Amino acid sequence: MIIGVPKEIKPEENRVAIVPGGVETLVKKGHKVIIEKNAGIGSGFSDEEYMRAGAQIVDKHEDVFYEADLILKVKEPLPEEYKLLSEGKILFTYLHLAASEDLTNNLINSKAVCIAYETVQTDDGFLPLLAPMSEIAGRMAPQEGAKYLEKPYGGRGILLGGVPGVPPANVVIIGAGNVGFNAARIAFGMGASVTVLDINPRKLRFIDDYFQGKVITMIADEYNIRMAIVYADLLIGAVLVPGAKAPKIVTRELLKTMKSGAVLVDVAIDQGGCAETSYPTTHSNPIYEEEGVIHYTVANMPGAVPRTATRALTLNTLPYVLEIAEKGWKRAVLENKSLARGVNIAYGKITHKEVAKAFNLPYTPLEELI
Ligand SMILES: NC(=O)c1ccc[n+]([C@@H]2O[C@H](COP(=O)([O-])OP(=O)(O)OC[C@H]3O[C@@H](n4cnc5c(N)ncnc54)[C@H](O)[C@@H]3O)[C@@H](O)[C@H]2O)c1
Repeated sequence: MIIGVPKEIKPEENRVAIVPGGVETLVKKGHKVIIEKNAGIGSGFSDEEYMRAGAQIVDKHEDVFYEADLILKVKEPLPEEYKLLSEGKILFTYLHLAASEDLTNNLINSKAVCIAYETVQTDDGFLPLLAPMSEIAGRMAPQEGAKYLEKPYGGRGILLGGVPGVPPANVVIIGAGNVGFNAARIAFGMGASVTVLDINPRKLRFIDDYFQGKVITMIADEYNIRMAIVYADLLIGAVLVPGAKAPKIVTRELLKTMKSGAVLVDVAIDQGGCAETSYPTTHSNPIYEEEGVIHYTVANMPGAVPRTATRALTLNTLPYVLEIAEKGWKRAVLENKSLARGVNIAYGKITHKEVAKAFNLPYTPLEELI
């Protein structure tokens, strides 16, 4: 199979979808790998390293799409890439379709097979290709929050860990999955007073065990959310219903009850955000203020730490890439149910229930297409 890796064109996105070691593995199996010039530079990988691993370097972005059977990316295609996708192509990347009707419609029109990293899901509900980026975004969330709590950025001017004689900041995390747990670890390590809410008591039990009761856990009902939001200096949104739009937990009315200069880091922004007031921002202009609360809503947070994120992502995606390349996508999804859950759109049909539901569009079970 011909596997193509274009350079990411999303603003300040420095990750790349394959490392030289991944190229070597694919080439040894008899596949051809083409990589756009300078695609790996932002993550610290030169064209020479890719060539030594057996890749062919291609000058033009569009040529990668035209030549490859399987296109590996990190972020969703941007409008200038829509026309480069067509029937017969397989796209494997993060898509977060429930957050964008325009992208969904364009991928339907392309007739390409679109497999989303974030909905690849094992039988026990684990999201193996979302988890590595959630671990990173979760660990970054308190770090970003701590920065924007500083007065020069418009924050409350409070140090996350406090100092002897002065209490630490209150960090409230909604969602106790991968993002939430990792955010709790870092916030706790920085000395903050941490509260975690989730609708799933098992997730809260794990947090309670792990932190030996030193992190407060609360069931995420409306009453508790209302209570916790009022005392948060830093609120971290970390909820997910796989494939679906994020539930809008923090309404504008609730936001108004927060302390002035508090910070909201809405990590769930890639699925639309869990606050009514959230819209996506970029690394170069990451924050804005609504109702006196600083919002940090960057949809590709791990893009800021590409040397860590590219390695973490690709070590998890490579086994699936190999499987698609070896078997073709149809046999691969027939034999691997986790990968089958990743197929969001194929031949112009939506094959993921939650994506169809998000836009009230027809859903076609994948089995009808393979
Ligand atoms: N902005 C970024 O750069 C970035 C990076 C990685 C992940 N993310 C996003 O972060 C979000 C969380 O990802 P994750 O890997 O932690 O997911 P996860 O599935 O591991 O955890 C999500 C948690 O949310 C809980 N939840 C669902 N609905 C809830 C509700 N109404 N109230 C409270 N809790 C609720 C679930 O029980 C679960 O524990 C996702 O939207 C993901 O795409 C964003």
